[in-house]
Amino acid sequence: MILVLNGPNLGRLGTREPDVYGSDTFEDVVTLCRETGTKLGEHVEVRQTDDEAELIGWLHEAADGRIPVVLNPAAFTHYSYAVRDAIAQRTAPLVEVHLTNPAAREEFRHTSVVAGVATGTIAGFGLQSYVLALHAIAEMNTTS
Ligand code: DQA
Repeated sequence: MILVLNGPNLGRLGTREPDVYGSDTFEDVVTLCRETGTKLGEHVEVRQTDDEAELIGWLHEAADGRIPVVLNPAAFTHYSYAVRDAIAQRTAPLVEVHLTNPAAREEFRHTSVVAGVATGTIAGFGLQSYVLALHAIAEMNTTS
């Protein structure tokens, strides 16, 4: 089982700033992650919330269950020490993902307060960022 967790505004993909995020919808993310999971022989569950407390609850669930996580923290990436502290409790790999490359965007996006407690970060490949992250986790599961 791999949890794919998504933060605020990602549920609006497709209509949200398509010039920045493209025309794929959140449902497309869900479908792609599930299909990738099937290929990798892993059950993948995809969730999205605009609520910081809900996201933190899911990270606690992952920590308690030793469940690997692919996380797009969205804007929380840049300022949520509470999300960072929840990730720090992780007991399995956690890959931070971004559709865009925040380092190539506005200055405030250059800081990730979560990167330092993630296993690694994949950014800038659109929906493929999720596929790459799922592959990385599957690889770690088979090699660890
Ligand atoms: C994002 C990048 C963040 O800076 C932004 O706040 C998002 C999406 C991405 O996937 O590119 O909401 O995480």
